[in-house]
Amino acid sequence: MSSAESGYRVAVLGATGLVGRTMIQVLEERHFPVSELIPLASPRSRGQIVTFQGREFSTEVPSAEIFKGVDIALFSAGASASREWAPVAAAAGAVVIDNSSAFRMDEGIPLVVPEVNPEAIFGKDGKAEKIIANPNCSTIQMVVVLKPLFDRYGLRRIVVSTYQSVTGKGKAGRDALESELSGLVPDEFTHFHQIAFNAVPQIDSFTDNGYTKEEMKMVNETRKIMGDQKLSVSPTTVRIPVYGGHGESLNVELESDFDIDDVSKLLAGSPGIVLQDDPSARLYPMPLTSYEKDEVFVGRLRPDYWNPRTLNMWVVADNLRKGAATNAVQIAEVLVGKL
Ligand SMILES: NC(=O)c1ccc[n+]([C@@H]2O[C@H](COP(=O)([O-])OP(=O)(O)OC[C@H]3O[C@@H](n4cnc5c(N)ncnc54)[C@H](OP(=O)(O)O)[C@@H]3O)[C@@H](O)[C@H]2O)c1
Repeated sequence: MSSAESGYRVAVLGATGLVGRTMIQVLEERHFPVSELIPLASPRSRGQIVTFQGREFSTEVPSAEIFKGVDIALFSAGASASREWAPVAAAAGAVVIDNSSAFRMDEGIPLVVPEVNPEAIFGKDGKAEKIIANPNCSTIQMVVVLKPLFDRYGLRRIVVSTYQSVTGKGKAGRDALESELSGLVPDEFTHFHQIAFNAVPQIDSFTDNGYTKEEMKMVNETRKIMGDQKLSVSPTTVRIPVYGGHGESLNVELESDFDIDDVSKLLAGSPGIVLQDDPSARLYPMPLTSYEKDEVFVGRLRPDYWNPRTLNMWVVADNLRKGAATNAVQIAEVLVGKL
């Protein structure tokens, strides 16, 4: 029987990808109690060696057999692999923490950011749900900042524009920038258009209402996590040629009046947030400064002088960390001692 003392058997599906590798790194850094690591990926990566806590593990492919005895399964191999393997892993007894979009909006599947709604991890019977969804990276960093504002002032409307790293599209997204910078012109652009020296106002495909799927994820996931179906979220998502993290410009209308110094203190004292806000010292967060950090960074905090009860801010987080791997490991940490 696994326990916090003996450690848990942890499978990572997508172990050779950008998020999966980061998950393994974060598990090690945060001393998550792992008795055995089971790295899984596609047949292309079978046998690839993954090093964890000084030990070597060979990458395998997912199967019903391999999930037997697994306590926690961290999934980051895309929605179709999640749809195929999450029910299998859950039936074998594992709690699946899924990074893909496969189950996020399903009723009965909790969509969790530990700083915001950790209680959703457990069902009415007090047991952990068998499949727990990790939100989209751009949603996670936004709701970490919105939650304290929601609780103190109430939220009316959020207008958000994102500046998203190429790593948000995985290995292929990162490699596309590198090869374009080296002068290669691909048959088909990974980011729809040239991304080197450019900004592309399309992430994922368009839906019928003129917004992209990425933008609608920010609308629907934010409402689900905050438990407010009426919340007005108006997003524009943009891919830019950076590594290190996603930036978001937020214009937030609150329900009640605020003092900007109080907002500053509130955010600085809220879990998972680092305030970097001193314009006189040119201090504000940037993708490169958030790289490999687990927190959400906030700066450029100021009132919107032309709209009452409204403020502007700039929010940055490492999309592979808080936007994916760290959030998933934090959910796993809530499970320690409760499986
Ligand atoms: N990148 C981000 O910022 C981010 C943020 C939040 C959520 N996510 C989500 O996390 C997932 C992975 O993203 P990523 O950026 O890590 O992508 P990635 O770098 O392309 O890695 C994909 C991983 O999935 C594995 N894989 C693909 N198809 C598979 C299959 N059918 N069976 C088993 N393994 C399979 C790949 O194995 P091989 O190496 O063998 O091909 C690789 O390990 C996606 O669902 C993505 O939406 C990503």
